[in-house]
Amino acid sequence: MLDVDSAHMSFGGVAALTDVSFSVGAGEVVGVIGPNGSGKSTLINVMSGFYRPTKGTISLGGTVISGRSPEAIRRAGLARTFQNLRLVAEMTVLDNALAGTFLGLTDGGPLTPRWIADVLGSPGARRRSARMREHAEAALAKVGLGGRLGLRAGVLSYADQKRLELARAIALRPRVLVLDEPTAGMSVEDADEMVRMVTGLARDGEEPLSLFLVEHRLELVLEVSDRVVVMDGGRLVADGDPATVAADPHVRSIYVGGE
Ligand SMILES: Nc1ncnc2c1ncn2[C@@H]1O[C@H](COP(=O)(O)OP(=O)(O)O)[C@@H](O)[C@H]1O
Ligand SMILES: [Mg+2]
Repeated sequence: MLDVDSAHMSFGGVAALTDVSFSVGAGEVVGVIGPNGSGKSTLINVMSGFYRPTKGTISLGGTVISGRSPEAIRRAGLARTFQNLRLVAEMTVLDNALAGTFLGLTDGGPLTPRWIADVLGSPGARRRSARMREHAEAALAKVGLGGRLGLRAGVLSYADQKRLELARAIALRPRVLVLDEPTAGMSVEDADEMVRMVTGLARDGEEPLSLFLVEHRLELVLEVSDRVVVMDGGRLVADGDPATVAADPHVRSIYVGGE
């Protein structure tokens, strides 16, 4: 479904990613671990078009997406969340969840005829926005926020704000969902619940949903993933089923005595 082939990323000559290759199958849950600064967020930024890889190719469903804009990649079926919250506190829960789908209205540019038609409320726009609202409400129900559509996002607990960010990505109906530390800053209980909920969505949905999930707790990643990818120093140092990765000497050297 998603293929990363020999991705390199350097910032002013400093390598953040070196020769990273892996694939994510349709409906597969891939857990990603690695120390701080090992290149996990950079990899996600490269996959989602926020950075253009210095070298290498990324394909989604057989189509090359590296070099395309984040919006084009999103439309190709890859949705992401960010390591830090990006919500509008004054907007309602529902409008925040819809915000991702609004982007789809612009076709990447600010003032297309379709965008104007949407703003003017043509029948086509009303049909599309009704469908987007349905998707947003369904996504909010899935993350447990179905009863809070009209609340301002700013009054939600931190954990609920993380859930709302997840709903905003799910509302896009992606084929591949890329989550950068969705549990950062949460209590252990909330984090466990979040990871189990999101892996459950990938496993139980009507459509296959592939998951690329960065999470810093090794034990949890080993438990919920079909496959685990390990980053260290900008390189992919292990890629395999959880049992194989858990036994890998390099992985053990990183995590012995650690978290
Ligand atoms: N925009 C950027 N400019 C310069 N260096 C960056 C940038 N983004 C990331 N890096 C560097 O790339 C390396 C990997 O960072 P990052 O991908 O954030 O790691 P992780 O998410 O695994 O903690 C770090 O050394 C970081 O300083
Ligand atoms: Mg990071």
